[in-house]
Amino acid sequence: MQQPWKITRRLLVASMLLSSLIGCGGDDNDPAPLTAGAVSSPDRFGAETAQQILQSGGNAVDAGVAVGFALAVTLPAAGNIGGGGFMTIYMDGKPYFVDYREKAPGAATPTMYLDASGNVIPRLSLDGSLAAGVPGTVAGLHAAHQRFGRLSWRQVLAPAISYARNGFVAYSTATPTSASSRANFNNYFGGKMVSGQLFKQPELADTLQRISDTGPDDFYKGQTADLLVAQMARTNGLISKADLANYQAVWREPVSIDWNGYMVYTAPPPSSGGFGIGQLLKMKRFLAPQFAAAPLNSAQYLHLTAEMEKRLFADRAQYLGDADFYQVPMDQLLSDDYLQRRAAEVSLSAPTPLANVRPGLGTDLPVPATADEKPQTTHFSIVDRWGNAVSNTYTLNGGYGSGIVVEGAGFLLNNEMDDFAAKPGVPNQFGVVGADANSIQPNKRPLSSMSPTIATKEGKVALVLGTPGGSRIFTSVYQVLVNTLDYNLPIAQAQALPRFHHQLLPDNVIEYEASKFPAAVAADLTLRGWIMRDGVNGGLNIEAVQVVGDTPVPVTDPRSPNGVALVVPPIP
Ligand code: DON
Repeated sequence: MQQPWKITRRLLVASMLLSSLIGCGGDDNDPAPLTAGAVSSPDRFGAETAQQILQSGGNAVDAGVAVGFALAVTLPAAGNIGGGGFMTIYMDGKPYFVDYREKAPGAATPTMYLDASGNVIPRLSLDGSLAAGVPGTVAGLHAAHQRFGRLSWRQVLAPAISYARNGFVAYSTATPTSASSRANFNNYFGGKMVSGQLFKQPELADTLQRISDTGPDDFYKGQTADLLVAQMARTNGLISKADLANYQAVWREPVSIDWNGYMVYTAPPPSSGGFGIGQLLKMKRFLAPQFAAAPLNSAQYLHLTAEMEKRLFADRAQYLGDADFYQVPMDQLLSDDYLQRRAAEVSLSAPTPLANVRPGLGTDLPVPATADEKPQTTHFSIVDRWGNAVSNTYTLNGGYGSGIVVEGAGFLLNNEMDDFAAKPGVPNQFGVVGADANSIQPNKRPLSSMSPTIATKEGKVALVLGTPGGSRIFTSVYQVLVNTLDYNLPIAQAQALPRFHHQLLPDNVIEYEASKFPAAVAADLTLRGWIMRDGVNGGLNIEAVQVVGDTPVPVTDPRSPNGVALVVPPIP
């Protein structure tokens, strides 16, 4: 749903008189804005929250933090305080990145999901307390707010507390994606969160109120921490009081890619997103003549892109992990020299056989295998009246995470531990493999694909976007970026175009939105040796804001059933 907002002169004057703003991201002498900003959110509660905060004088970070907490209430399958994520910020002309990814508990070990024979125990890294990493969301949202917020912490928590305390009309029914034993989940959600009915969460309201009163200390050192650790004791989890007390969100340099007059800012390790987007953009540049001869989304276009993706996923499996624990050779992996060589390896007609695709810096690939399951993550994009932006992706990993609700605190715990390589070469739920770089170690962050991205032109925000989808995230973000920045398509069109994905394993499989591509495209690729498979699991709900001139154009993905895009008027 898109809702362009018409504004009268009178409203503009009213907004000038009423706004007396100080602090980050704004100036009292700014001319009256045409809008208070714009938001693209996975649900209407997130959009309404952003509207409320932006209209109260909040900037994009205030709104982003408030939406992060609100979706923890209204979108419990993915929104969270028991998970983690990444926020890319563009504030006063500079890019920033907050890493609030979960960490492995201090008692985690490299073999914790293996049986006595060294085989991975199915679902142990997905279901139950052992699957949970130390949550980062509260620390991350707090770090962003501390540094850039203009409104009070209480103000940004208020909408979430209200949804939890007073309830909201649910638009989906809580059903965990796995049928395994989830008694704890069912006690809390079972039969209560039903589409179309008012759903109240008094325990979660109390938790959010404590966080509002005492900041992250309650969550990491106080009553909520005690409740979480008690839950671990009841259900054989590993997260300790020390793990919680030691958790820190980290400010990192975003990956920045100079792209045809744009700067693209996106996620560094422990995400593979910025690496993936950077490799794809640069290989595409070195294949410019080949792409010029391949119309957008033609068979040859898909072929060339999938060939590039083969190489990037070989590198991802070998070299990507938490850079605080493993020396990720990001500079080399994103260097022009290296990517020129990798682009030159791309076959122009048929898929390169797996045996010939090696990680580019040397050594072997993990053994191929496949796996898949229905996951959940969520993204929102916000711009404010001063031209600042927030691009935020956060997750419990699987839908409703581990299925474990912290009793007495009313929130779900993630199952992010599955994003580690439980064993070299054995795929996780997204079918991707890893090696030492992404092995389990105490306090390490599992490798992510989340890619909250902001593109700027001449220092001004041009595009804010991101999506759920596990390993499909950055190939989807890449496609929408290219459709917009290279092919100059308006964001709504860029986003609606059909998507596709390849990730080296399974061998030669291209996932694609079959109903949206001409049959001839799949037929051509099949003849070349690609295996065409319908669907791009996840990776589809791009929530984006393009800024055209000074006008924000928020769009929600046509594939996103509950997404809401809103241009926010300055004063109600
Ligand atoms: O961090 C990651 O890459 C995954 N845990 C994200 C999971 C996800 O996107 C699931 N959504 N469809």
